[in-house]
Amino acid sequence: MRVLVTGASGRLGRAVLPRLRGDGFAVRAVSRHPREDSTVEWVAADLATGEGLSAAVAGVGAVLHLASSPARRTHEVDVLGTRRLVETADQAGVGHLVFVSIVGIDRVPFGYYRHKLAAEQVVTAGPVPWSILRATQFPEFLEELLRTAGRLGPVIGDPAVLAQPVDPADVAARLAGMLAAGPSYTVEEYGGPQVLRFDEAVRAWRAARRSHRPLLRVRIPGRLGWALRSGGLTTTATPTGTRTWADHLGDTYGGTGRR
Ligand SMILES: NC(=O)c1ccc[n+]([C@@H]2O[C@H](COP(=O)([O-])OP(=O)(O)OC[C@H]3O[C@@H](n4cnc5c(N)ncnc54)[C@H](OP(=O)(O)O)[C@@H]3O)[C@@H](O)[C@H]2O)c1
Repeated sequence: MRVLVTGASGRLGRAVLPRLRGDGFAVRAVSRHPREDSTVEWVAADLATGEGLSAAVAGVGAVLHLASSPARRTHEVDVLGTRRLVETADQAGVGHLVFVSIVGIDRVPFGYYRHKLAAEQVVTAGPVPWSILRATQFPEFLEELLRTAGRLGPVIGDPAVLAQPVDPADVAARLAGMLAAGPSYTVEEYGGPQVLRFDEAVRAWRAARRSHRPLLRVRIPGRLGWALRSGGLTTTATPTGTRTWADHLGDTYGGTGRR
């Protein structure tokens, strides 16, 4: 089966492409920027304008929709873009749309999450048979957060916030399984193997980087803080991914310390 992958150039997309190829899918990959690659068919399309979408979906059996724009034009790309994709896929007779979402979008009051929830609703109300996978945060995202939180010296954060990092390669394997299984019409959750407190995650990160930065403890106020501390970003769903935060840090920093 030929699968169209949106967001193929992103963090998850880069793990998904080799996994799908390895599992025997023919892959067509979308980016706004045309690419040269002898192993994958790349096509240019923009969800915000719809440009290139009809040609992208022509002749595919399934769509794996990973593209997202959390920082800018989120409504245009994530909500209206998903609607454009669903309509175009319907016209092309696509038999399955798998949408990647985030654990906790219905519990944690982030603006981005409201857009992801609206995009899920576009998929579930649409005419194309669907499956949705809500994943927890990728370790690379947690690292970016820690780097940002440490920009001023100490790592600033709420020690009791809970996270459950899941490796993109584990998510890619799960998505390949969902594509093979066909439309489930369900929203599944998928997290990493461990739930970590923020202070535990910081301690392991500091040790891996041989860093002595202190953790400056703050308490995130209000409903957001409560949601994050009470596990709003975590899931009890099984199976879980296999790779831990420590595995990620070992791969990234090995025995060589700070990068
Ligand atoms: N990051 C996490 O921790 C996390 C956790 C759970 C779930 N998710 C979900 O997983 C998915 C992938 O996340 P990621 O971290 O891999 O994303 P990412 O690295 O930020 O990549 C975003 C992708 O979206 C594409 N994109 C952005 N605007 C577009 C537009 N107007 N038209 C077409 N494509 C566009 C980009 O493609 P080009 O720039 O090449 O056009 C890029 O491939 C997202 O749906 C996200 O919500 C992420």
